[in-house]
Amino acid sequence: MTRRGFLKAAVGLSLGAAGCRATGRAAAARSTTIEAGRQDGKVNDLFRPGAVWLDTDGQLIQAHGGGVLFHEGVYYWFGENKDARTQPARGRIRRLDVVGVNCYSSTDLLRWKNEGLALPAVKDDPDSDLHPSGVVERPKVIYNERTARFVMWMHIDKADYGYARAGVAISTSPAGPYRYLGSVQPNGADSRDMTVYQDDDGRAYIFHASEWNKTMRITRLSEDYLEATDDSVREFVGRSREAPAVFKHEGRYTCISSGCSGWAPNAAEYAVSEAAMGPWTVMGNPCVGTPGQVATTFQAQSTFVLPVQDRPGAYIFMADRWKPEDLGDSRYVWLPLEIDGDSLRIRWLDEWDLSVFD
Ligand code: DGJ
Repeated sequence: MTRRGFLKAAVGLSLGAAGCRATGRAAAARSTTIEAGRQDGKVNDLFRPGAVWLDTDGQLIQAHGGGVLFHEGVYYWFGENKDARTQPARGRIRRLDVVGVNCYSSTDLLRWKNEGLALPAVKDDPDSDLHPSGVVERPKVIYNERTARFVMWMHIDKADYGYARAGVAISTSPAGPYRYLGSVQPNGADSRDMTVYQDDDGRAYIFHASEWNKTMRITRLSEDYLEATDDSVREFVGRSREAPAVFKHEGRYTCISSGCSGWAPNAAEYAVSEAAMGPWTVMGNPCVGTPGQVATTFQAQSTFVLPVQDRPGAYIFMADRWKPEDLGDSRYVWLPLEIDGDSLRIRWLDEWDLSVFD
């Protein structure tokens, strides 16, 4: 990828004042946090990392810790709906009630239509994994060609993060509704931050932070993607990595991850491999910029790498800029990846569009 497009896209545009509306219970208190001039209320014409991002109804997008599925010409963005009151910190833990997993659809990656809750919280059953008192984080969806089912995997936990399981849900249509099937500790291993990677041979894997986040496990899923198999490896042993985001380019697998520091940002690290299950070689920090940007991943944490359709070599790094005191007002940092062999670079851009990949 060349730098030409990056420079072109970095030119700022002057937009009208934001007449945007926030939505939901917790949103009213946030109206003063919306940065005037960063959006025009309804139309999103550029990626603006860290800015308020509104859906096509002019509402704040609630899709945190998310991932994107491309299916039959449409992108579906799944993520945590965090439109609830962030509770006061209890020790090192800061949380809010589970609302559910949201889904948005788009054909251009900029304008997102709210498809609603693909997997809502279950309010009337305190024993449900999806009860508001628990934790539902980092949902990712893949499509199983054999079964013609959409399969969602996610981190399921209790409020103290001691339950540490991977949950799975299924649907016949991409936007849901999804039917929750249950949760597991794959091969007896605790499972917190996670992602799903679907390979082009049809195999799929979950990458899950395990052993109290000290070590990442990569576990192959069954053919229907509904179960964890016993084909599982330990990687990044003792490196304390979480927030994995995996992609494959020209036969090489790359995993970008964060360190473990709660909602506070830290330095990203990437690793490469010849196979999804490793062995993985740690390469270093892909971020390029000021020392502050490099040390904090642009004040954000990885969640997914999105391959742009019909643009070979074009990948978007998706990250969350958490706002611990009001998690529902957390922002999205999407930046283009620069790939050159095994070398990966992520640079800050105030504003950009897909022409950076030209
Ligand atoms: C970091 C994880 O990446 C997030 O998904 C969330 O679990 C927070 N920790 C909770 O502190």
